[in-house]
Amino acid sequence: MKIFLDTANLDEIREAAALGVVDGITTNPSLLAKETGDPEAILVEICETVDGPISGEVVATEADGMIKEGRHLASLHENVVVKIPCITEGLKATKILSGEGKRVNMTLVFSPTQALLAAKSGARYVSPFLGRLDDIAAPGMDLVADIIQIFDHYDFDCEVLAASLRHPLHVVEAARMGADIATMPKSVFDKLLKHPLTDIGLKRFLDDWEKVKAQLAAKAV
Ligand code: G3P
Repeated sequence: MKIFLDTANLDEIREAAALGVVDGITTNPSLLAKETGDPEAILVEICETVDGPISGEVVATEADGMIKEGRHLASLHENVVVKIPCITEGLKATKILSGEGKRVNMTLVFSPTQALLAAKSGARYVSPFLGRLDDIAAPGMDLVADIIQIFDHYDFDCEVLAASLRHPLHVVEAARMGADIATMPKSVFDKLLKHPLTDIGLKRFLDDWEKVKAQLAAKAV
């Protein structure tokens, strides 16, 4: 499973990218609004930092505007993936942009039928927002499972990008289901590696090794 970070914060991105396991980045207008500076310049900087798919979202809501914005975003850097909301106008724009060879990440997907239409319109990625479904007491992971099951029957060139992940168990479940990608905030990413038994075990190894060194030093005297 590919791991993406869901952030527009360059410090977070640089820190995580240094581990060598970050495959891409997803941003959205809300995430870019948290940062200081020109959003386009930030997007380009992200593309220079992580060599993988970097989603930048359109804010137009009519197909023509989405297409214009999508073309512009795609022209900023070869890594840019155009993120388009899963609405009627978004489908029209996705058909055109994907026909031009631009990669589209269809976002704000909350049902299997939306995912199916996104894939049929040529989206390269489909982003079910599972945490936001959990928020309204609808099981978000079930949506991911449904989409994977549906896509398994066909030859869509469309990856399932599990989004709106809120904790490591979401990541585990997405991986168990075979989601192609999981995108997560840096706070969730940081928790993936941590285990108290690893820290305790390492401390014990090092303490024991100090004892060996002390014994050798005592013998040498
Ligand atoms: O990638 C989707 C993400 O930005 C939404 O996450 O936590 O706001 O539902 P959240």
